[in-house]
Amino acid sequence: MTTHTIAIIGGSGFVGSRLCSRLARDGHRLRVLTRRRDRHRDLLVLPTVEVLEGSPHDPAALDTLLAGCDVAINLVGILNEQGHDGSGFEQAHVELARRVIDACRRQGVQRLLHMSALGADAAHGASHYQRSKGRGEELALAAGDLHVTAFRPSVIFGPGDSFLRRFAGLLRLTPLLFPLACARARFQPVFVGDVAECFTRAIDDPRTYGNSYALCGPRSYTLLDLVRYTATVTGLRRRILPLPDWASRLQAEIFEWLPGKPFSRDNYLSTRHDNVCAAPFPPVFDITPTPLESVAPYYLGNAGERRRYERLRSGG
Ligand SMILES: NC(=O)c1ccc[n+]([C@@H]2O[C@H](COP(=O)([O-])OP(=O)(O)OC[C@H]3O[C@@H](n4cnc5c(N)ncnc54)[C@H](OP(=O)(O)O)[C@@H]3O)[C@@H](O)[C@H]2O)c1
Repeated sequence: MTTHTIAIIGGSGFVGSRLCSRLARDGHRLRVLTRRRDRHRDLLVLPTVEVLEGSPHDPAALDTLLAGCDVAINLVGILNEQGHDGSGFEQAHVELARRVIDACRRQGVQRLLHMSALGADAAHGASHYQRSKGRGEELALAAGDLHVTAFRPSVIFGPGDSFLRRFAGLLRLTPLLFPLACARARFQPVFVGDVAECFTRAIDDPRTYGNSYALCGPRSYTLLDLVRYTATVTGLRRRILPLPDWASRLQAEIFEWLPGKPFSRDNYLSTRHDNVCAAPFPPVFDITPTPLESVAPYYLGNAGERRRYERLRSGG
């Protein structure tokens, strides 16, 4: 197996940390760019990982990151912007994708893996998130002088996720009745370990050049199914009240103004179309996708289950 020097932009987050551990296991040298190095000390314990501080929006920081690398991975993405006009999404998903491509060209990095999202659609996406993700993906795949592969996962689950764990937290805060917006929206959650494995296997596989891969787990669920499941696994007995569409929209309009934007109009619009895959897991990766039920209890559940999961992960 060839080992590479790999630059990871957005490598300090949920998917990035998992991907770094996976790539480090294969002996690749990793260079991760983060805006706040002190927040990501966990990455420093991995062998062969160098964490650089800087903004990926700064071409000079990207040049420093990419110098001497032979692979670049762009994982940057946001679910909500600070403002309300779409410009934050444009900057994170489109402008940044362009800057990464330009920096790859300047630094002679030929291989680029680009993280998009299921539902990304430049022309027909219902939300700023989906349209900007779509434009970023189009830009990356149009860079014909580079070898580009794009990935379009449905919602990603695993230890540290911000989806099931967020609902677990909200369920804890809501003692009796839990009002749920967009309860009928469908998702096909994919395991973070499987996503990291696809990125890892794609690096040296020319069959993946120029392609975009939808990544989904083995089953699709409504949001109501997933929140009920989370309540069961965490032992929280709650009545979940699916909100009608008008109330879901109203909740989005109100929550958009709360600190941290727990839900926004853009999130609401992103659920207009089901977030599920039309085809089985891409055969090129030779992976059987992990069922949600075989992992989630160990990180959502009690401390004993979590310890068991850690033992399983470490092979002990
Ligand atoms: N998680 C999911 O369910 C899911 C589903 C589909 C697609 N995706 C895509 O997968 C990618 C990784 O997701 P994740 O869940 O790992 O996200 P995450 O945990 O929020 O990590 C995002 C990373 O991007 C960087 N970042 C965030 N906002 C940025 C900004 N405005 N400018 C520059 N850098 C910024 C952060 O780096 P620093 O703060 O360290 O600088 C962080 O490392 C994203 O592109 C996301 O859209 C995720």
